[in-house]
Amino acid sequence: MPKIRFIEHDGTEHVVDAPDGSSAMLAAVNNGVPGIDGDCGGICACATCHVYVDPAWIDITGRRGEQEESMITFSPILEPNSRLCCQIAMREELDGLVLHLPVGQH
Ligand code: FES
Repeated sequence: MPKIRFIEHDGTEHVVDAPDGSSAMLAAVNNGVPGIDGDCGGICACATCHVYVDPAWIDITGRRGEQEESMITFSPILEPNSRLCCQIAMREELDGLVLHLPVGQH
C-alpha cells in the first residue's frame, strides 16, 4: 500500500498509509494529520486540504486541474506547487509521496 509523508511547517512528520484509489486527503483525515480538514468530503469545494507537493514529486502527481485552480487561485498562500490533496488519487507510483503543510494550517 502506498505511503505518504506529510510534513508540517515545523518539520513534524506524519507517515500514513494511503490505499490505492483513495485520495491523499482521505489518508490524512483518516490518520489525524493536523491541518487537513477535508470539509467538503473531497469534492474540490472547500480548499481545507491545501498542501505543497514536494518538488521531487510534481511530475508524478501532476498539476492542478481546472476546478482545483478556481478553488485556490485567490488563496494568499498559493504557491506554484500548491494542490488540493483531495484531488490527488493514490496509486502505487505515488508510494513515498512527500506533501508539505502550509504555515498556519495545523
Ligand atoms: Fe474540500 Fe479538498 S476536501 S477541496
